[in-house]
Amino acid sequence: MSPWTWTSPYARRQRLRLSGGHVVTAGVVISLVYLFYVFVVPQLLRFRFRTDLSSYDLGLYGFGPSKSYVSFDYESPVLEIAEFESGCDPRYTLIAPRGDSIAHPGPTILDAQGNLVWMKYNWGTTQDFKIQRYRGEDYLTYWEGGEIEGRGYGSWFMLDSSYTQRYVINPVGNYGGDLHEFTITTEGTALVSVYDPIPADLTSVGGPELGWIFDGVFQEIDIETGELLFEWRASKHYPINGTYENLGGRGRDRTSAFDFYHINSVAKNDEGNYIVSARHYHSVSCVDQNTGFVLWTLGGKMNDFVDNSDGEATNFAWQHDARWHNNNTLTLFNNAVHSGRDPESESRGLAIQLDIPERQAKLLAAYYHPQQMRSVSQGNVQVLDDAGRVLVGWGHSAAYSEFSANGQLLCNVHFGASAFFTFGRVVSYRAFKSDWVGYPQTPPDAEVDGDKVFVSWNGATEVTTWRLEVWDSDGLDEVAFGVIAQFEKTGFETEIEIPKDLGPLFRLAALDSMGNILGVTDLLQKDQGTGLESFLNVQNWMTRIALTTSVGGLLVGLYRCIGCGKLFKRARSRSSDYQLLAVNENDERPPV
Ligand SMILES: *[C@@H]1O[C@H](CO)[C@@H](O)[C@H](O)[C@H]1NC(C)=O
Ligand SMILES: *[C@@H]1O[C@H](CO)[C@@H](O)[C@H](O)[C@H]1NC(C)=O
Repeated sequence: MSPWTWTSPYARRQRLRLSGGHVVTAGVVISLVYLFYVFVVPQLLRFRFRTDLSSYDLGLYGFGPSKSYVSFDYESPVLEIAEFESGCDPRYTLIAPRGDSIAHPGPTILDAQGNLVWMKYNWGTTQDFKIQRYRGEDYLTYWEGGEIEGRGYGSWFMLDSSYTQRYVINPVGNYGGDLHEFTITTEGTALVSVYDPIPADLTSVGGPELGWIFDGVFQEIDIETGELLFEWRASKHYPINGTYENLGGRGRDRTSAFDFYHINSVAKNDEGNYIVSARHYHSVSCVDQNTGFVLWTLGGKMNDFVDNSDGEATNFAWQHDARWHNNNTLTLFNNAVHSGRDPESESRGLAIQLDIPERQAKLLAAYYHPQQMRSVSQGNVQVLDDAGRVLVGWGHSAAYSEFSANGQLLCNVHFGASAFFTFGRVVSYRAFKSDWVGYPQTPPDAEVDGDKVFVSWNGATEVTTWRLEVWDSDGLDEVAFGVIAQFEKTGFETEIEIPKDLGPLFRLAALDSMGNILGVTDLLQKDQGTGLESFLNVQNWMTRIALTTSVGGLLVGLYRCIGCGKLFKRARSRSSDYQLLAVNENDERPPV
C-alpha cells in the first residue's frame, strides 16, 4: 500500500470539508457572476463610453459639474462648450437643470460663455423655463410643482424684469396644472396642459371595461381674468387603441389611470387653430379653434399624410414640442426612443414641410447630436432666427446644440457628463436662447474674504463695472463716499483686491455701460483680525473653553456611567497614548 494512496479518516474529513468549501466557493462565485450579469452588466451597458469623450464628458468633474461662489449661496452648472463655423448664438440660454446631481435645481439663465446670469433655487420641480412676451413686456415663465410619473401637479409662474412674480396661473376646474406646456399666445392668452383621470372602457387595449385613463386635456385661459376660453380633451376625438403605450398593469383605478395620449405641447398656427403633440400617439394634430374637431393628424396610427421622404417626415415616435412656423413648416423633437430597451434609433430635431390641402409631408432637415443621443424623454426645438437656425434641447440628455437650417452643427453645449446621460442624473425639460434684461430689486451681494472682496448680483444683466467707494467719515451729518477705483465686471462674480491703504468701511456700486448707478452693496468692512489676531480674540477663547469643558464633561460622564465603563476601559487600554482630556499646551498659547 503506497503511502500516497492511504488517507486517514481525519484527512478524508478534511478533504470532504474542503470539497464542501469548494461547493460553497463555487456557489458564491456563480451567485456573484449571476448578480454581476443581472445587475451590473445592464448598468455598464448603459454607459455611453466612446473614444471621442473629453474628460468633462467622462465625468472627471462629476456627473453634473457645478461652480460655487463666495458672495452667492447656490451652485450653478459648469458647461462644456464646443463651437464650429459661426459658433454659438450670443444670446442667453434658459434651462431648468434638475436631477440627482444638481445641488440647486431651478430656473437658470446662463450667458453664451457659460457664466451664470440668474438662478432661483426652487423646492418644487421646475420645467419649461423660457421668456415669453405678454402685453408688450418680456416675462420669465415656468411651471413649478410636484411630478408623478412624468405628469405635473402645480402652477405656471410669470416673473417680470425685476424678478417679481406678477402672475400665477392655474387651470380652470379641479385640476393641477401640468408641467408640459405653458405657451402665451399673441392674443395674451395662455395655452396649458392638464392630465385628468376619468373612467373609460379599456377593452380595445386588453384592459377592463370599467377602466381609467388620464385624459389629455388642454385649456386656453385669459391671463388677466383667469377665464376659460377653450378646453379640449383627447378622449372625445381619439380612440384609446390609437396609442403606442403599453397598458401594462395600469388602468384599473384612478391613481394608476392609463396615459393613452400624453399631451406635451400645444401651440397655435397662423389661422388660430391648435397644434397638439401627443407623445403616446406618435402624432401631431391640428384642432379647430371653434369646434374642437380634429382637422388633420400627422404621424401615428391616425396619420392623414402621404410621406414624400420615405417615412422620415411621419415616423417620429415619443416626440415633444411641435411648433408651427411660416410657410406650413413644423418643427418637433423626435425622441425616437421611449426606454433604454427600445431598438437602436437616434433622437433628433426635425423640420417638416406640410402641404395641408394635398395632405403631403416632406422632411426639410434633421438635426443630430454628434454623439448620437438617445433621449428617452423631454427635449425641444427652437427656431432662433429668420434664416432657420435651430436650437435643439436634448431633454433627458444634459445638452443643447445649435444647427444651421440645413442641419450643420454650429454649437454644442453639455451641462452634464455625456457618458452618463442614460442615467438622467442631470436633465432639463427644454432649453431656449433669448434676449433678456433684468433689474433685480435685491441689492448686490458682496463678501469680504481676507484682502479680497467678491461681488455678484443675481439677475442684473446690465452691470458692466463695479466701482469701489470708501466711506468718508469727515462728513459729519451726511455719509459721503469717495470713489477709489473701477473694476470691470467679470463673469457672474467679480473678485477685487482691496487696496492696502483703503479705509475700513467701503461699498461697491454697480454701473451700467453709461456709468449710471444701478445699485450698491451694503456697507462692507475690511477683514479686521487675520490669523493670530482672531485666534487670540477673547470670544474665541471663551467658546473654546466652554466647548472643551462640555466635551470633557460628557466623556467623563460616559466613562463613569454603569455599563459603559468597560467599553471605555477597553478603548483606553488599546490607545494608551491618548488621554480623555487632552490639553496640549504647545498648541495653544495663552491670551496676552
Ligand atoms: C380600435 O378598435 C376599433 C374597434 O374596437 C377598431 O375598429 C379600430 O380599427 C381599432 N383601431 C386601431 C388603430 O387599432
Ligand atoms: C414654402 O414652401 C414651398 C413648398 O410648399 C416651397 O416651394 C417654398 O420654397 C417655401 N418658401 C420658403 C420661403 O421657404
